[in-house]
Parts: sequence; structure tokens; C-alpha cells
Amino acid sequence: MTENKAFKPVRKAVFPVAGLGTRFLPATKVMPKEMLPLNDRPLIQHAWEEARDAGIAEFIFVTGRQKEMLEEHFDHQPELMRLLESRNKTDMIEKVQSSEMQEGKLFLTRQAKPLGLGHAVWCARKLVGDEPFAVILPDDVILADKGCLSQMIETYNDTGGNVVAVMDVPREDTAKYGILDIKEEKGKNVDIKGLVEKPDPANAPSTLSIIGRYILQPEIFTHLSCFEKGAGGEIQLTDAMAKLIGDQPFHGYRFDGTRYDCGSRLGLIEANIAFGLQDPETGEAVRQIIRRFTETTPETGKSHALA
Ligand code: G1P
Repeated sequence: MTENKAFKPVRKAVFPVAGLGTRFLPATKVMPKEMLPLNDRPLIQHAWEEARDAGIAEFIFVTGRQKEMLEEHFDHQPELMRLLESRNKTDMIEKVQSSEMQEGKLFLTRQAKPLGLGHAVWCARKLVGDEPFAVILPDDVILADKGCLSQMIETYNDTGGNVVAVMDVPREDTAKYGILDIKEEKGKNVDIKGLVEKPDPANAPSTLSIIGRYILQPEIFTHLSCFEKGAGGEIQLTDAMAKLIGDQPFHGYRFDGTRYDCGSRLGLIEANIAFGLQDPETGEAVRQIIRRFTETTPETGKSHALA
């Protein structure tokens, strides 16, 4: 990775993880939605690994009630390790070790009330301080050869300023996303002249939408501290970002990779199929399972597996 010394490096990442996960009830009645498994690890670990692989050194979780399991997950678990060692489970030991965060790298702050994504990020202001930082939404999982945040940091090293991950969505879905008002497209980089949170399809300035990866300058906190309510009556990160445009460089970045919306049941099922297929340990078996489910019995028209 080439580092342009002109721009301050991105060393910290904020993970807003205070959300309730109502779409997954009752699975998330007690367990945080970020602990839902995608292939062999929870969603939060996928997000953390992407940040770590992008060179992030400090991980800031914005948590809330009943989220302690998220901190626990990244701890050293001596009893479990002793048990695995006594049984010579070397492969499992490696897997468990790969989920441990080095001491002094995890920082926690709390969002006491669900006032919106902008408010969650604002809750991390003291831990971020006066430097650029990344935000990762663990619901958005991106399967890619090179992690999405790594790609974005490479772009940031060229452009500086603020960078958001973007992709095209069907027009009928614009009300689910932050949408770009495009000034100019330059290959994978998109110059932005405006941002709108969750516009109706009829009013959306484009179909290019923000996916949950951001590189932001600390000046965002000035705008977030106004606590202005936006779409859905929430304090929106998109609205605060829109105010930075014009004062600072602001780019959308069309990342390489496939995004899965693991904040929805179907998205999580789809992601599990995709990750299961590309995992060398399970890929072939998953392919066979899919075949069994998609082949139908001519008499009934039903899948073999369900007949
Ligand atoms: C949030 C952001 C939105 C963004 C989306 C990406 O919305 O507010 O701008 O496009 O994440 O997943 P949420 O999904 O939390 O409603």
C-alpha cells in the first residue's frame, strides 16, 4: 500500500453496534444482532477483520444495553484454550486465536438512546479526537478479494478528505439508503455535490447509494453536535456529511466486491450461501446442498430435498 504523507493516516475505526436488531427477533431477544453467525464467525468479527486488514489500529465500539457479548467475543478465553489444547485441536486453537484482539486496541463508548446513526458516531467523538477515522456498519458485509476498507484507504491516500463506499441500487430502493447527488464520475471515484438520506424514489437525485463504509474527517463532529433531526426523526450521519461538501473533498468510491445486507433475514441467508460456497472447507458440500434443493421431482414439482 502506498501511503501519501500529505494526508493524515486513518488509524481508528468506529463500529456503531448499539442497534436493537428487531428484524431478527426472537433470535436477537438476548443476543446482539452483530453476533449472528455468517459462515464460521459472527458479523462483528467480519467487520473487525476488514478494519484490521486495512491497517486500523484502534477499534471503537459504540455499544448499548445487552451488548457485552461483543466485547467478550474478542477476549482471550483461558478455559476454552486449555480445553482445546488438552484435546490437541490445533485448527480450532488457531481459529479462536484469530478472534482475539490485542490488549489496548478495543475502546468502548455507549449510546444510551437510539437517536440515529449520526448520534452513534457523535458518541465516539472523544475517542476519535482530531484525526480522520473510518466508520464500519457490521450489517453491511462485503465479499471481496481485497477488503472494501483497504480499497477505500488506498483511494483516500490519493484524494484525502472524506470517502464513502457506494453502489447502484434499484430505484425503488432509494428510500433505504443515503443517496448521492453526483457532480462528476471519474472512474471508480465519484465527485459529490450533495447527499440525501432515504429519499423517495421519485425525488432521488440518483440511484448511487452509500454502503456502510466511511472515511471521515473530524470536522464531521461539529455538524453532528447540532443534533439536527432528519429522515425518520433521527440524527443522520448523511445530513452531517452533506454539510462538509464544499468545505472539504468528498468522494463516493465504487468498491470492488459484493455487498450483502445482513441487517435483513434474506440478506443474511444469501450471505451465508455466498460465504459457504467460497470457503474451501465447505464450498463443494454447499454446492451439493443447493443442487438438492433446486432439483425438482417432476410429479410434484417440489424440490427433492423437501419432498
Ligand atoms: C444507514 C445510513 C444510510 C446508508 C445505509 C447503508 O441506514 O443511514 O445512509 O445508506 O446505512 O446500509 P440504515 O441501514 O441504518 O437505515
